[in-house]
Amino acid sequence: MKGEKEEGGEAVKESLEILLSREQIAARVDRLADQINRDYENKKPLLVCILKGAVVFLSDLMRRLTLPVEIDFMAVSSYGQSTSTSGIVRILKDLEYTVSEKDVLVVEDIVDTGLTLNYLCKNLLQRRPRSLKVASLLDKPERRKVDFIPDYLGFSIPDHFVVGYGLDFDERYRHLPDICILKRRAPVQD
Ligand code: IMP
Ligand code: MG
Repeated sequence: MKGEKEEGGEAVKESLEILLSREQIAARVDRLADQINRDYENKKPLLVCILKGAVVFLSDLMRRLTLPVEIDFMAVSSYGQSTSTSGIVRILKDLEYTVSEKDVLVVEDIVDTGLTLNYLCKNLLQRRPRSLKVASLLDKPERRKVDFIPDYLGFSIPDHFVVGYGLDFDERYRHLPDICILKRRAPVQD
């Protein structure tokens, strides 16, 4: 897919290259679900989906779980309209229910600098869940600013900005079924 976006009057060329196909993602999500089904046997985990990026992962993952799961949503923001992190984490939408005595499994799209999940986990732990684990579809370990290792991980990827399967750039591309590297190129000046 190719596109152009006006920025300051200049058309920035964007192109997409598939990094992980829908088939690769489906196979990996299957295996993650198997692992979660085993680990949470006889439990009723509360899946906490981090909006908006993780919605597609959540909906695929939860349909493969054979456990009596509950779901809730949180929205946090650490990014403006740029591809680099600001380091500031704000809770834009909090959980509907209390998590005390629940086995909480946070479902996230990607761990990048680690700032978001590091902050979120500290915040959730203060609410005294019975247990707290994190499932992230993607991880970009090269970009880490704070130590963070997800308990369940789909794919570790190199340092590229990726979109699709829920992930966006400036709210675009979330609907793509594959995970793609977004390449942006400013027009060449002569
Ligand atoms: P962190 O706090 O730097 O770990 O940022 C995590 C959040 O940044 C993720 O939940 C995503 O919303 C966003 N993010 C990081 N890398 C990417 C990317 O390559 N594509 C789209 N969103 C990203
Ligand atoms: Mg996110």
